[in-house]
Amino acid sequence: MVDDEKSIKITPIKNGTVIDHISSGQAIKVMRILSMTEGDVENIVSIAMNVDSSKGKKDIVKVEDREIGSDELNKISLIAPEATINIIRNYGVVEKKRVNLPDRVKEIVRCKNRNCISNKNEPVSPEFIVEAGRKVTLRCIYCNREMRGGEISDNLM
Ligand SMILES: Nc1ncnc2c1ncn2[C@@H]1O[C@H](COP(=O)(O)OP(=O)(O)OP(=O)(O)O)[C@@H](O)[C@H]1O
Ligand SMILES: [Mg+2]
Ligand SMILES: [Zn+2]
Repeated sequence: MVDDEKSIKITPIKNGTVIDHISSGQAIKVMRILSMTEGDVENIVSIAMNVDSSKGKKDIVKVEDREIGSDELNKISLIAPEATINIIRNYGVVEKKRVNLPDRVKEIVRCKNRNCISNKNEPVSPEFIVEAGRKVTLRCIYCNREMRGGEISDNLM
């Protein structure tokens, strides 16, 4: 627990995951990716939004007694590419990972084009090519439609 968090009071967790350096305002979307907004949450979760850090404002999500898996990390990378994942054991950071922007994402986001074949009752799974940039862009491999920002988080499967 250092620097930017001296001023805020979040109780240290014994075991779990701290998702740090989330672009400010994105914490709720991270919670959605972790399926933690549906009322069936069992873990204790603390969210801090708009915390001052050396690089501006950020959000932080702390999940007790859960270590976030790589599928979820890939999803988080789509909306919070700057995030760092800190695995906490016995109150200490034992592992620090960056989220990984995949080259392609399949069955994670739905195409925004209602007429896309991936939205029809065909055995075709939505799949996108990921284009990194100031903002992540997803390009549908079927209809070529581009999605970014809120379009991505609004269409998470
Ligand atoms: N036991 C804990 N309970 C809750 N949060 C913790 C715990 N240990 C560390 N953290 C938080 O996890 C994040 C990473 O901790 P670390 O000590 O690596 O900080 P750091 O050196 O600032 O890392 P970074 O360079 O990634 O910002 C920080 O936000 C810190 O407050
Ligand atoms: Mg820090
Ligand atoms: Zn499409």
